[in-house]
Amino acid sequence: MVELLHAETPSDVDRAASLLAHQQVVAFPTETVYGLGADARSDDAVSKVFRAKGRPSDNPLIVHVASRDMVDELVQSDAVTPLVNRLMNAFWPGPLTLILPVRPGVLSTLVTAGLNTVGVRVPGHPVALQLLSLSHVPVAAPSANTSGRPSPTLARHVAADLGHSEHVSAILNGGATGVGVESTVIRVTDETITILRPGGVTREQLSQYATVTVDPGLLDQGETPMSPGMKYTHYAPRAPVTVLQGDAAFVRRCTQEALQEARGKVALLKMDTLGVSLDDDGTKRLHVLSLGATVDDMARLLYARLRECDDLGVEVILAQDCVNEGVGSAVRNRLLKAAAGCRRQSSK
Ligand code: TXA
Ligand code: MG
Repeated sequence: MVELLHAETPSDVDRAASLLAHQQVVAFPTETVYGLGADARSDDAVSKVFRAKGRPSDNPLIVHVASRDMVDELVQSDAVTPLVNRLMNAFWPGPLTLILPVRPGVLSTLVTAGLNTVGVRVPGHPVALQLLSLSHVPVAAPSANTSGRPSPTLARHVAADLGHSEHVSAILNGGATGVGVESTVIRVTDETITILRPGGVTREQLSQYATVTVDPGLLDQGETPMSPGMKYTHYAPRAPVTVLQGDAAFVRRCTQEALQEARGKVALLKMDTLGVSLDDDGTKRLHVLSLGATVDDMARLLYARLRECDDLGVEVILAQDCVNEGVGSAVRNRLLKAAAGCRRQSSK
C-alpha cells in the first residue's frame, strides 16, 4: 500500500524522510513538478524508481540536495568552475539543473545511466528542502509520473499513475507545485552555457551570466539530443495532440474542422486572452480548457489540463501554441513533445 502523507503534518514529513533514509521510494513536491525520490547512493532504492516509472535505463536521474555544499561530495573537485559557482549562487534553490563531472564511486551508477556526468539541483520548495535536510541523503528524483505521461503538478496526479505501485512507499502531498514545468538542464563549458532542456530558469536569465546556446539536438530532428531524456516522446495524454500556430480565426476554423471529423469529444486548450467564439454544433462534444492569461499560467496549468483531457475521454486535443520566450520556451517544448511534433500553421 502506498502511504498518503501530508506536508503540513510534521510527523508525516519525518516519516517521508525516514523512508528515504531506509532506501524506500517517496514522491514529494518540488517547485517545478512532483519528484519520485530515492537514495541516490543505493542501487536497490534507485532501481525501484526505474521500475515504478517504467523508465528506460539509459535515461539518467537528477540528484537533489539540500544545499550547495553537498554538491562537492558528488562531483569531481574541479567541476565547480567560477561560472558554475556563480550560477549556483544566482539560481539555487530553484529550477536549474547543472550537468557536472561525477565523482566516481559515490552514487549508484543507475542514477547516471553509466555516463561520467551527473545532474544536480537544490530545489526551491520548502517541503523538498525540509525532506532533503531531514533524510541526510542525496535524493535521485525524476518526475513522479509513469514514463511518457504528463508530469504531475498535484499529488493526485502522482496517485493516478503510481498510487498502486509495489515499488513506491509513500506520496507526500504538499499541494500544487509552483512553476509547473521542470527545471532547466544545462551544461557549462568555459564561458558558454548550453541548454539541454528548457525549463523554469529562462534563457534570458542565464544570458546575464554567459553566452547561451541551445542543444542543436532540441531543434534539429537529425541531431541526437545531449540529454538522453529529450529523445523520448513525453508528456503525452492518451488522445493525439495538435499544436495550433495561428490567430483566433485560425483556431476557430481548426476547432470546427476537428468537430466535424471526430465522432467523440474534442478538447481545445487555449489562453483566456485568445477570444474565439465557438459553438459546439449542439452535440456538447467540445471542451474548452483554460491555460490562463499569462505564459506563467500556461506553464502552471499545461500538464494538469492534458491529464483532464484523459479524464474527459476526449478523442482529439487541440492546443494553442506558446510564445518562444521566457518560460514559454519550456512550455512550447513540452507542447510539441506532447504532440509528437504534430502542428498546424496558419498559411497567413
Ligand atoms: O524539475 C525537475 O527537473 C524535476 C523535479 C522532480 O526535480 N525532475 C525531472 O526529472 O524532470 P526527469 O528525470 O523527469 O528529467 C531529467 C532530465 C532527463 O531529460 C534526463 O535525460 C536529463 O535530465 N539528465 C539527467 N542527468 C543527465 C546527465 N548526466 N546528462 C544529460 N542529461 C541528464
Ligand atoms: Mg520527466
